[in-house]
Amino acid sequence: MNEKYLVAVDGSEHGWKALDLAAKLAGASDAELILLHVVPHEPMPDGLAQFAKAEGLSMAEERGRYHEGRRIGDQIVRQAEARVRKSGFERVSSRVEEGSPADRIVAVAEGDGTDMIFLGSRGLSDLKGLLMGSVSHKLMHLAPCTCVVVK
Ligand SMILES: Nc1ncnc2c1ncn2[C@@H]1O[C@H](COP(=O)(O)OP(=O)(O)OP(=O)(O)O)[C@@H](O)[C@H]1O
Ligand SMILES: [Mg+2]
Repeated sequence: MNEKYLVAVDGSEHGWKALDLAAKLAGASDAELILLHVVPHEPMPDGLAQFAKAEGLSMAEERGRYHEGRRIGDQIVRQAEARVRKSGFERVSSRVEEGSPADRIVAVAEGDGTDMIFLGSRGLSDLKGLLMGSVSHKLMHLAPCTCVVVK
């Protein structure tokens, strides 16, 4: 059976670089690519939701923000898939999940039994001087398989 490579994309330069490397290696080894974006979903603590309710504050803004994130996430994976297909690679599928990025990436890797995970060392945050972002850092600890952190 072909190997499966999971690529975590967040729309950052590092993420595209991870994708390009994964596509190159997958092409050489007949592997299949699964592209994943996670829409960060920070659930509002119960106490805060109660406070908002007591104050008569609408939660519509929170929902709107999540909706936006989902739309952007769909666009990120569409772009990622188009980038891979443009190079003639066909064994690619993509998905958008919601929740904590590192936890969801691990869950998909476990659920799909992927052989390798590719991600960038950094993402969209402007953390000058830091070697790795929190998602890559967490993945290095939690990944259930080989994890390639692309710099
Ligand atoms: N929401 C996400 N969905 C999918 N992959 C992600 C997501 N966020 C980050 N990644 C992957 O993890 C890599 C590292 O990003 P990370 O978020 O750890 O760095 P950062 O944005 O610089 O820092 P931080 O988010 O901790 O402030 C990205 O290049 C991408 O491959
Ligand atoms: Mg980030």
